[in-house]
Formats: sequence, structure tokens, C-alpha cells
Amino acid sequence: MPAPAVAEAGTLPNPVGPLSETVLAALGTPPSGRSWPVFPQEAADPYGLDLHLALHVCYELHYRGFHGVNPEWEWNPELLRFRGALEYTFLTALRTDVPGGNDVSEAVGPLLVEPDDGDGLSRFLRDKGEWWQMREYFAHRSIYHLKEADPHAWVLPRLTGKAKAALVAVEFDEFGGGRADRMHSKLFADLLDGAGLDSSYLGYLDAVPAPALAVVNMMSMFGLHRALRGALVGHFAAAEITTAPAAKRMVAALRRLAADPACVRFYAEHVEADAVHEQVLRHDVLDDLLQREPHLAADVVFGVQATELVESRLAEHLMTNWAQARTSLLRPLP
Ligand SMILES: [Fe+2]
Ligand SMILES: [Fe+2]
Repeated sequence: MPAPAVAEAGTLPNPVGPLSETVLAALGTPPSGRSWPVFPQEAADPYGLDLHLALHVCYELHYRGFHGVNPEWEWNPELLRFRGALEYTFLTALRTDVPGGNDVSEAVGPLLVEPDDGDGLSRFLRDKGEWWQMREYFAHRSIYHLKEADPHAWVLPRLTGKAKAALVAVEFDEFGGGRADRMHSKLFADLLDGAGLDSSYLGYLDAVPAPALAVVNMMSMFGLHRALRGALVGHFAAAEITTAPAAKRMVAALRRLAADPACVRFYAEHVEADAVHEQVLRHDVLDDLLQREPHLAADVVFGVQATELVESRLAEHLMTNWAQARTSLLRPLP
């Protein structure tokens, strides 16, 4: 019997500016107390590709790491200090760019009435999307879906009681309910294979633009900081509420395009699963968390609103490029 494969690590991307250059140059050397450049706080674009690629690489050290990179970098104090500055820039922009408030029902309510995924992206794909656009969409989403549910696992030790038990139940489903071949990350790898795309872990890291990376970086940031546990739970709830109806539209789109059954399967799985996950997140996780820690309400609202913000930015990026028959990726798919 062949030995099971070791978790596949990513390949380091190419730098796209001074921030990613700083991080990537460091990771090519052994961890040390080397001196780091001063972080250019004023010049850094909180939604720019350079910042998000640098941040994504820093976060990836906590997941699977990269080929040829010393794993000790994960806890290197200088790198963490640099990452902290990247996070501060991104987090400050997110907090500034959402309406805020602390009424969780008011924040979640609109998602239940007209659940959507940003600016009608799945509606567009269902009604008019072409196969090349669908493949690009898969490539954008591959950064997250190939590690689906991993960012949310960081929050588990920070929860207790019913909120914890219920969130674990949702994660259990995401991780295939005990079956490796049904893990959602595996179903997405099958989808990529079915679409004739590269299913290797982080295979499209060099190809996706900032709005796609920002979605994943936001989850990692919320998951890795205990102080942001309210935002992580708010984000998770918002994602689960909007996923089931969007997945239904994706199933319709993929059937219209006569896509490979593996492509349909990933979304079909989410139509039913996420209808349940939504209920669990809202009633068991959110209600219980807020009863225990009512002061987290504002952060839960923040997590919901920040999710809408980054998803809309991604949807807008895709629709703007597609409207002009241009690729939405940094390099077109072969
Ligand atoms: Fe899932
Ligand atoms: Fe789910």
C-alpha cells in the first residue's frame, strides 16, 4: 500500500512590490535576527496586491508553509512584527469602510431577505456566464476552497459551551464528516480537475488579484487573533447565510454550461449543507456567544459587514473586467 501523501505545501509566489519583496526575500534565507526595513505605513495600499500577497505569504506559514522555507519562520519575531504592520493597515481600512454598529439582527437581517454574494455575481453566472468566466471564478476561489474551513478552525479554542459545540458540528461537515474524500477542500480539488484546471495547493497564487486574496486574508486574520473571535464568528455566519442560495445559482449555471459532474457536485453539496449551517451558526453559535460575551456584538457586526465589503470588491472586480471581455486574473488561464 502506498504511504499517504504528506500535506502538499505551496510554492513561493513572485514578489509584486516592496512589501512582498521584503517578505519573500527573507523567507529565502534561514530565520535570523536580520534587520527589517521600516514599514512604509503611509505608502501602503490596504487593498493593494503587494500588501495582500505579503500578508498571504505570512499567514500561509501557519497553514502548510512553502516548499524550501524553514518552518521556524512561523514564529520569527521580526517577521511577526512586519506582519502586524500589514494587518494593522488592512484592519484599519476595513473598520473605516464599514458602517459599524452593534445590532447583530440588523446586520444579519438583510442577508436573509435577499441573500446574495456581493453584486449579483452568481446571478450573472447563472444567466449569462460563459465557461471561461466560470473557470476564472474557480481559480479565484481556489485559494480559499483548497483550504476550506481551515481559517475557522483557529477560533475553536477561543469558544466554549454551545457556541463551541455547534461550530465544531459545522466544521465536521466542512471536513467531510470523517471521510477524507468528502472534505469540501477535496470536492473543490475534484471540481478543478473536472474543469481542466490546476488543483495543486495555491496553484493560482501568482494569478489572482488583490480582491481575491483580501477575502482569504480577512478570514485568516480573524481566525488567528483571539481578540477578533467575534468578527470570525460574524464572518462565518454571513458566509454560510449567503452560500446556500448562491450555490443553488451555481448549480444552475454549471448545468446550463454542461460542466463536468465534479463541478456541479461541489456546489450541490453546499445547497443543502449550508442551509443547515446557516441555522446552526445563527441560532446556536451566535446566540450563545452573545449571551456569554455580549460585548462582542460590535465585532460580530463588523465581521458580517467586512465580509460583504470584501466580497463586493471581488465581485466588482470580476464584473468590471468581464464587461470588457478582459481576464479578471493577473494572467489569463491557458
Ligand atoms: Fe463548505
Ligand atoms: Fe458550510
